[in-house]
Amino acid sequence: MGDIKKGLEGVVALDTSISFIDGLQGILKYRGIEVEHLAEMSYDAVSYLLINGILPDEQELTDYSSRLKNERFLHHNMADVLKICEFGIESLDLLRTAISCSAHFDTEKDIHSPEANINKAIRLVAKFPTMVAALERNRIGVEPIGPNNDLSHGANFLYMLTGRIPTDLEAEAIEKDFILSAEHELNPSTFSLRIAASTLSDLYSAIICGLCTLKGPLHGGARKGVMDMLDEVISPDNAENYIQDKISKKEKIMGFGHRVYKTYDPRAQVYKDIARRISLENGDTVWYDMAEKLEHIMYHEFIELRGKPIYPNVDFYSAVVYKYLDIPSELATSVFAIGRVSGWIAHCLEQYSDNRVIRPRANFV
Ligand code: ACO
Repeated sequence: MGDIKKGLEGVVALDTSISFIDGLQGILKYRGIEVEHLAEMSYDAVSYLLINGILPDEQELTDYSSRLKNERFLHHNMADVLKICEFGIESLDLLRTAISCSAHFDTEKDIHSPEANINKAIRLVAKFPTMVAALERNRIGVEPIGPNNDLSHGANFLYMLTGRIPTDLEAEAIEKDFILSAEHELNPSTFSLRIAASTLSDLYSAIICGLCTLKGPLHGGARKGVMDMLDEVISPDNAENYIQDKISKKEKIMGFGHRVYKTYDPRAQVYKDIARRISLENGDTVWYDMAEKLEHIMYHEFIELRGKPIYPNVDFYSAVVYKYLDIPSELATSVFAIGRVSGWIAHCLEQYSDNRVIRPRANFV
């Protein structure tokens, strides 16, 4: 047996044409296009790009968007499913159950042809926001609201969540959030679902593996962790004490550090800019100021402690954006999943198209 790389650090497990990361230069591309450029497009266009491999032309985008809109509605039995289970600290547990149940209403669940997989992909991308919004409305004891097909993917989600048409900047913020969260090579959730897909399990089952893995606080769950941290810190004046306390207890500070990026995560830069703009529109910059202070302290603290800085990751300023959008922290990982589902689907389809079962070895001790 060869050397063991704990956490598979640096191990290259497969070829992919879906995304490219240069962790030293801080570059992320989906299908060859920089994420900063994609963030100016619509989520529909980016999800088409991820799933189909190329950007749609105008007609293809119109057709794709209209198929997504037609699939936003949930099967009538899903209303009961979404009410059955209450969620406590993390809505993702219920989303996982809901996606699992929704598979039973999909007549193509066990059909594995490329056409059926694309149909299921469109249903999943379209229904994720409707489910997440409905389960939050059930939690707060108000009736879920159906989709508004005059609105884009992101704006419609905020509308279904709050019952209010979002401002242009709020709509832009959530659309960018879904785009920036859509794909990130072999992150833990994506790797877990590629393993499921490699056994030729169905698309829904693979996506549920992704959801389960996204939940952990070292992965997508960190977004909730950052929101909770902002609530705990309360004011920029408390940031220094908060960090010192965490470091002295050897606890991780959520939203910082990354396995691959050794410089600023390019997504974090875009999120930071949206967070700043939305804080100004909101007329209350406390969350943003607190986040900037935490970033500054962490940067210098890590130079002192480890001789090199630590940077915010994708979960840091996205959490600040969620604060300004009034998204509760319990919902943060589920909102992350709304964006990520396109990338997950792309990886499943890529795995199916050139499959060999993923089955490494372990060293017996
Ligand atoms: N707070 C405090 N210390 C940290 C942090 C942090 N956020 N990140 C790394 N370190 C320290 C570690 O304690 C470790 O120190 P040690 O060598 O003395 O033990 C050192 O830096 C190296 O970190 P590792 O955890 O070994 O790095 P790894 O590549 O395994 O983990 C990870 C990367 C999980 C992202 C880590 O930085 C972390 O836990 N961050 C906080 C959680 C988080 O924000 N996760 C979201 C990541 S983005 C995403 O998945 C969507």
